[in-house]
Amino acid sequence: MKKIQISPSILAGDFSKLGYEIKRLEDGGADMIHVDVMDGHFVPNLTIGPPVIKSLRKYTKLPFDVHLMISPVHKYIKSFSEAGSDIITIHPEATKNIKDSIDLIKSFGKKVGLSLNPDTSIEVIDKYLKEINLVLVMTVYPGFGGQKFISKILNKIKNLKIIKDKKNLDFDIEVDGGINFENNKLVIEAGANILVSGTTIFKDNNGDIKKNIELLRS
Ligand code: DX5
Ligand code: ZN
Repeated sequence: MKKIQISPSILAGDFSKLGYEIKRLEDGGADMIHVDVMDGHFVPNLTIGPPVIKSLRKYTKLPFDVHLMISPVHKYIKSFSEAGSDIITIHPEATKNIKDSIDLIKSFGKKVGLSLNPDTSIEVIDKYLKEINLVLVMTVYPGFGGQKFISKILNKIKNLKIIKDKKNLDFDIEVDGGINFENNKLVIEAGANILVSGTTIFKDNNGDIKKNIELLRS
């Protein structure tokens, strides 16, 4: 089994001091930093773009796990790559040609992720699974932090893990949305090996980031 990794989402951090928040996450044992990019079009919320990622780059050596909730995404891949992303995850609905976008991300030497919304089935990305590094399974409808985990998605995670094992593939299974100390074990059992978390990491146990990361991992 792959080691469980934690990718805290800075969406739940204090946006007036994101550099400091990233340092706190690194000191607390984060494996990577999840950056939620929203455009007010693909999802009904707006967050940050490449200049912010570029200015945050100097605060940590941890990989930036950049989740692009923007459409059309293809023309922005270059600027997010140059800004210092390490993993670039896109939603299949947000590009005209999934294969072209995968190849473009790879051409910049970045890892590629494809994300499945709660209503998007595995079949949509099935034929790309051997070419990508990660599948980001949304356990909430994207757009906002602090939402409730949708438990029926556990089946999708299990099915994805079955396909992965059957085809002997190596992609990571990352889960995103409403992850807490109750469902962390369930998603891990189902097959996830990277857990994204915003609210739980920044707010639980009076914001004890180190403790929250440790608890999520176990
Ligand atoms: C939702 C984002 C998630 C979210 C996670 O669109 O992709 O990364 O911020 O935050 P919590 O853990 O609060 O659900
Ligand atoms: Zn996300």
